[in-house]
Amino acid sequence: MVDHMPPEDLKACCASFYESDLVRRFLGDSFHPGGEDITRALGVALGLDDGSLVLDVACGAGASSIALAQEFGCSAVGVDLSEENLERARGQAEKAGVDDRVQFLMMDAEELTFEDGGFDAVVSECALCTFPDKPAALSEALRMLRPGGRIGITDVVVERDLPERAQGILFHVACISGAMPARGYIDALVDAGFVDVVHEDHGEAITELLDRGERLLMGWGVVEKLYGVDLEAWLDLSQEEAKEMLAGARKWVESGDLSYGLFTGARP
Ligand SMILES: C[S@@+](CC[C@H](N)C(=O)[O-])C[C@H]1O[C@@H](n2cnc3c(N)ncnc32)[C@H](O)[C@@H]1O
Repeated sequence: MVDHMPPEDLKACCASFYESDLVRRFLGDSFHPGGEDITRALGVALGLDDGSLVLDVACGAGASSIALAQEFGCSAVGVDLSEENLERARGQAEKAGVDDRVQFLMMDAEELTFEDGGFDAVVSECALCTFPDKPAALSEALRMLRPGGRIGITDVVVERDLPERAQGILFHVACISGAMPARGYIDALVDAGFVDVVHEDHGEAITELLDRGERLLMGWGVVEKLYGVDLEAWLDLSQEEAKEMLAGARKWVESGDLSYGLFTGARP
């Protein structure tokens, strides 16, 4: 349970989780289901072009900012709380040849320090679900946008109450226990002041992630040796329990209770 954790500890825990080699190995630099494909879908939905300035909130290792800059020619500023991942993002932007248009800064999504109205679009992938104060983060996103500017969020969608086993800190930072039903994201965007809110379902992104999870489970012993980790302690799950959870997650995907959503909206 994370309800009793101080918000600052929760944020720090999330930032350090995504610094681990194991997570990076599992997810690559794109720390969200759907990888660059869903980021591209987000860019299309937001109508980005080479005149757009995009704010990428909770950018992790910068994969979304870099992909958007490459694909749409836009400029981007990514913010996150992990200096290690921000540094990696800067290196990756240089490698991709977009470092003249993309920069990365340490900043809290709930307290952005940019002036009002400076961005054409705000994106945030697989991160809103982890923020302790979601209304504050959305209200900051709204403040960042020029009038008519667009927000694009991709996030885990959970339509049912999770079992107690899936409500601990690992499940929170892994974007599961803080996830909301699709209606919850839509209402949160509307409550923050966004208009023209639209939801697209991308359940296939979760299926692909579960496939990867199954491959990790099959290589349990190898992964432990390779990374010098005790997976049972790290996940707080035995291999058998992890298998059962993945099988349960698949059933939820099939029934539509677990999915990945792309949400867009606009500042009036
Ligand atoms: C699941 S990762 C997603 C990263 C990135 N958006 C991506 O899709 O590759 C969640 C990210 O949220 C960041 N984060 C968590 N709380 C934050 C906050 N309050 N402000 C800024 N970043 C935060 C973490 O450091 C982590 O990089």
